[in-house]
Amino acid sequence: MKPNVASLNVAEVKKDFPILNQTNRGKPLVYLDSAATAQKPRRVIEAISSFYSNDYANIHRGIFELSERSTQLYERARETVKQFIHARSADEIVFVSGTTGAINLMAQSYGLSSWQAGDEVILSTMEHHSNIVPWMMLKKSVGIVVKVIPVMEDGTLDMVAYRSLFTSKTKLVSVTHASNVLGVINPVKELAAMAHAEGVPILLDGAQAISHMPVDVQALDCDFYVFSGHKLYGPTGIGVLYGKQALLTAMPPYQGGGGMIETVSFSEVTYARTPQKFEAGTPNMAGAVGLAAAMDYLLAIGMASVYEKEQALLAYAQDKLSAIKGLRIIGTATPKLGVMSFVLDQVHAHDVGTILDHAGVAVRAGHHCAMPLMHRFKVPAMVRASLGIYNDAHDIDVLVDAITSVKRLFQ
Ligand code: ALA
Repeated sequence: MKPNVASLNVAEVKKDFPILNQTNRGKPLVYLDSAATAQKPRRVIEAISSFYSNDYANIHRGIFELSERSTQLYERARETVKQFIHARSADEIVFVSGTTGAINLMAQSYGLSSWQAGDEVILSTMEHHSNIVPWMMLKKSVGIVVKVIPVMEDGTLDMVAYRSLFTSKTKLVSVTHASNVLGVINPVKELAAMAHAEGVPILLDGAQAISHMPVDVQALDCDFYVFSGHKLYGPTGIGVLYGKQALLTAMPPYQGGGGMIETVSFSEVTYARTPQKFEAGTPNMAGAVGLAAAMDYLLAIGMASVYEKEQALLAYAQDKLSAIKGLRIIGTATPKLGVMSFVLDQVHAHDVGTILDHAGVAVRAGHHCAMPLMHRFKVPAMVRASLGIYNDAHDIDVLVDAITSVKRLFQ
């Protein structure tokens, strides 16, 4: 049965995304790679263009009207982010380049400033490389210990193992809110409560979750939350590090330069308050404005509607995919986001991806920037179809037909 998506009119939403109206290898484009990056609604494209056409000047520096306007738009974007994730204060919102930028900031500021050899950080097997490599760099430079929560066969975290990983040396838990490969949404409130019971702060990587479900950082009681703009229908090169104010205030700056200082002399430098302390140099102002436009667009639809619509389409898609003989979905636990990774008997993921491409279907095939998870499931690569707000049942039907033709070709 086709899903009921009455709460969100997908046909109308699709019209908001100019890029979707084109062909891919001569076939109508079916974009199923939103977990890698989401397409942009006209409202975002126009907000960026309007910013450069009408409001662009350097922020926090000029005394002229244009600079004031540019500053206001940048700071208004911070307010929009605060509202979107339900932070207590806009001062808890640091603009960064993306999820990767945020976690590197955390490793270099929160980690490097106070951790010593033997101190421990807890990650999970399902992290993408952004939430592994910055900590592995600290392992190499400082000698920290990286501990890993195992993932069960259905894609859930082993919560018993999680509890056993804490010691008096645990400094931080850093786990994903939802897996970019399995789609599985982790019980992050429980993870946070367990970490706090041990006196340990928790960072949640919201790179995937932020685009598909309501996020309330206060209700989750996470200490840090990070995400990128480009997966949230916003521009590339912009993202957010949310941190509880007291924690951000106690952290040293990550990069030095203009905009993050109070006074500079050759004997001493004093720093600006949070969040400016972490935003050295001229920031990505147009990116912040574009991200706020994306958030305004999503807030108008309502994140609860986004979640409901994608869940209905996910159920439809998983039913159809599961009916294909020889296709194995990896990540079957619920709740999960609209991310379906699978392997097809005796066909390499890259071959599947290439044939789908010729049917107009854009999916990701490979290790999905999560090599440890590929090892966990003993596969070299997977195919991943991931949903966005513009996908509908027709897109899934085209995907399923294309997979059927892959099977025919390889039989
Ligand atoms: N982390 C991104 C993905 O899942 C790039 O594809």
